[in-house]
Amino acid sequence: MAALLETVNISKRFKGIKALQGVGLRIRRGETLGLIGPNGAGKSTLVNVLCGQLAQDTGDIFLDGVEISKMRPHRRCHLGLSRTYQIPRPFPDLVVLQNVIPSVLCGKTEHRPNLEQATQEAQAFLEFVGLADKQNVEARDLTIYELRLLELARSLATRPKILFVDEVMAGLNPAEADTAVALMSSIKETYGVTICWIEHVMSVLMEAAQRIIALDYGEIIADGPPGEVADNQRVIEAYLGSEWRQYA
Ligand SMILES: Nc1ncnc2c1ncn2[C@@H]1O[C@H](COP(=O)(O)OP(=O)(O)OP(=O)(O)O)[C@@H](O)[C@H]1O
Ligand SMILES: [Mg+2]
Repeated sequence: MAALLETVNISKRFKGIKALQGVGLRIRRGETLGLIGPNGAGKSTLVNVLCGQLAQDTGDIFLDGVEISKMRPHRRCHLGLSRTYQIPRPFPDLVVLQNVIPSVLCGKTEHRPNLEQATQEAQAFLEFVGLADKQNVEARDLTIYELRLLELARSLATRPKILFVDEVMAGLNPAEADTAVALMSSIKETYGVTICWIEHVMSVLMEAAQRIIALDYGEIIADGPPGEVADNQRVIEAYLGSEWRQYA
């Protein structure tokens, strides 16, 4: 599979902390890639750098062969990068529908609907994620589960080539988590989008991902099929522990 996104030697420091150190990765067109690692490993920082919310200190990023290393986030979005936030970031004073309409209007460059069309499309995305009945509720009044669904609706509404999902299951009860996992698989089926999924629930990625990259202290310590990464000694020592399969 051809690489849809490629990075070369990405580094990022926050004062004394080396959040990313020489990260080179390839995301293949059509795959679901899992991104794992302990708290503070640099997973969210990597997504922030790839999508342009943070500037890297060193390194280059290529999307579909186009260099995007210094592009503003909205331009990367036009080219097909979209992401959810680990801590949801809605417009709290706007209703749910109004939260999604800007994503429809400001997403992929070739897609420029008028406001009426955009409203209908936003409703369809809300329907898809299961939030249609909340469309007139202010985002500030949503539960964490509903906020996670809203993050997904807003990201999908930009019609991405690559969707970065930063911990969709965190804070959900078991039933909500199951629904979120099912939604991720229907996103894949319906939109065929390439997915990079940060997740601490390893058993979910074992099922959903074709490949997993493990980060530790800002460095890639493993990259391969889920079964291989799960048995990798460095990954077990840095993150999974030796007993995780028993409890998975
Ligand atoms: N804006 C920031 N300013 C200062 N330090 C930061 C900032 N963002 C991240 N860091 C630090 O960089 C390191 C990597 O953080 P990051 O949030 O990328 O980890 P993570 O792998 O996403 O962890 P988690 O699983 O807890 O979400 C951590 O030490 C974190 O404290
Ligand atoms: Mg994170």
